[in-house]
Amino acid sequence: MALRLNDEQDAMLKGHRGEAMTLAMKAIVQYGNAFGAKRLVPIKSAHLAGTFRASIFKAYYQVLRRLVRADARVSVPTTLNPRPGEQLNILNKLVFRKQRELDEQMASFGVTPNYSCVCYDGVNVPQKGDVLAWAESSAVQYANSVLGARTNRCSVLMDICCALTGLTPEFGYLLDDNRVARLLVKLEIDKMDASALGYLIGRKAVNRVPIIEHHEFTQTELKNMGGSMAAAGGVAMFHVEGLTPEAPDIKTACGGEPPEMMTIRQSDLDDLRTKKRQDSGMVVFGCPQMTLDEAVALSENFIGKKVKVPTWFCLIPEAKRNFRRHSYYEKILAAGVEVHDFCPLPALSVTAKRRKILTPSGKLFYYLDESRFGNIADCLEHCGVS
Ligand code: F3S
Repeated sequence: MALRLNDEQDAMLKGHRGEAMTLAMKAIVQYGNAFGAKRLVPIKSAHLAGTFRASIFKAYYQVLRRLVRADARVSVPTTLNPRPGEQLNILNKLVFRKQRELDEQMASFGVTPNYSCVCYDGVNVPQKGDVLAWAESSAVQYANSVLGARTNRCSVLMDICCALTGLTPEFGYLLDDNRVARLLVKLEIDKMDASALGYLIGRKAVNRVPIIEHHEFTQTELKNMGGSMAAAGGVAMFHVEGLTPEAPDIKTACGGEPPEMMTIRQSDLDDLRTKKRQDSGMVVFGCPQMTLDEAVALSENFIGKKVKVPTWFCLIPEAKRNFRRHSYYEKILAAGVEVHDFCPLPALSVTAKRRKILTPSGKLFYYLDESRFGNIADCLEHCGVS
């Protein structure tokens, strides 16, 4: 059955609220019909992922220009993914030379210029049960899994259509049945590496919701594990037994007995670590971007030392502003660490001479050519500070 609109939504589709709203409604209705949604539901917030201005996404920018001309404004609080590091070097300046135009377009829509994939860190913080329309797979993962909110992985452009209308089609992770765990992950691990664990679960679960046997993951570990899992698989939600809000126990999260089970062992985590660390010319921390607490904790390893290879901390912009006032900030700069507030993936993707990046981020490792994975201890050792 085709998606049914109420009178107000029907009026929006027919142009009673302007051209921008009609464009957005047309897209949402087609999107909803493609996924078998029966209705549109209101959202509490949106998060947009199309924040890099590179010439390859021409059609996207054409639509944005059209929306700006039609005076489009978001209907709900809406946050933005990171910038691409457009000032980093000459090549990046060239590739992203129109970044300012995109920033201005976003500003004209009335979005919050947070420029972070960790939008849920103090800026766009959903409550349990809130319906959202978020793009950015790592943020979607955190919202569904850790906060108990409900969002699908919106694509770029569909995220804007939802933000403008304040509506999203009801399907996928908005429905109880699709939030049930289908895969139990048992752990035989002595030294937890949540990012590696997320990567391995993502590859196995693909797009099924997993439930992980109880482990006292920190908020930082949940963030980094979710980012890796969402990249290595199509996973948009996970549960942790007795920790995440929809998994008081395994039976509740699975709606009965788990249909399938896997075990991840210490040797599986260790196998993901590169054997070719020596020729890595750079170490990158912070994908998803680091929170202030995460940056402060990691900084302790660098104080009074000097890095042997270029080392980046990529922080949430607001966290970077606060970090500058922290006593560790000057000390880690003195150690040779570069502190950035953009997304390392596009920033490094256009660099002509890649330096074989070593990273403890399963997400960056998955997406960035010529990158290698190491756990945090490996990365610190390679920086020359452990
Ligand atoms: Fe965030 Fe960029 Fe990594 S958007 S999750 S820092 S690839």
